[in-house]
Amino acid sequence: MSGRLAGKVAIVTGSGSGIGQAIAIRFASEGASVVVDYRNHLDQAQETASKAEAAGGKAILVKADVSNLADTQNLVDQAYAQLGRCDILVNNAGIEKSAAFWDVTEADYDTVLDINLKGAFFLTQAFVRRLRDAKQPGRVINTSSVHEDMVFPNFSTYCASKGGMRMLMRDLAVELGPLNITVNNIAPGAIATPINTKMMANKSQLEALLANIPLGRMGTPEDVAGVALFLASDDGAYVTGSTYFVDGGLIRNYHEQ
Ligand code: BGC
Repeated sequence: MSGRLAGKVAIVTGSGSGIGQAIAIRFASEGASVVVDYRNHLDQAQETASKAEAAGGKAILVKADVSNLADTQNLVDQAYAQLGRCDILVNNAGIEKSAAFWDVTEADYDTVLDINLKGAFFLTQAFVRRLRDAKQPGRVINTSSVHEDMVFPNFSTYCASKGGMRMLMRDLAVELGPLNITVNNIAPGAIATPINTKMMANKSQLEALLANIPLGRMGTPEDVAGVALFLASDDGAYVTGSTYFVDGGLIRNYHEQ
């Protein structure tokens, strides 16, 4: 198969829906084989896999909770066992929980940090160890958020996780550069995905948000997938240590209502 990712294998975490699903399909349309990771919803992951295959790539399904180290290791192992290699890792799985700072529970803190940050950390470690041993280059792309940099009141756990992801990316760009492994973040703004379902159903909240977005609309998962493709492709070979904001200008124009 031809395409900008022909012959490559990519793991995309949280690819049963939203941004992860769009990235998996876009990569497949460019010739990649994709590992579709899901935690609970096999039906959604199957939808991603069948759309990826219809787009022209190969897809396998692996159930893995990224906050579990054995699961992250298994994701990498399955890529090698079933697809023979693993060139690209997209750390996309993420959640958010809203609570005033003084109400945050230890359980909620652990859930958000474990999925958003610890998951990306140890999955990247498992991915990199195999590349290091095989002396192969690689690409790490994290789905971060505008909130790696911008405040988000009542989402302190989410901000802590995404701020951590920003510095993890910067650190790894330096540590992994000599192995020819690039590491970058994509920082989406308000994208029409399940994470925003509640907000989108609240007319006044939605209008207030749209008023803050210079391009005047929410983003689509495909808007994000295009940037992920760039970072995964040959065109992105010399890019490492950067965050790409895909937010319609939101981060330059945010006002609390
Ligand atoms: C969050 C969304 C929020 C958006 C813009 C994203 O990272 O997941 O809930 O609407 O940032 O603030």
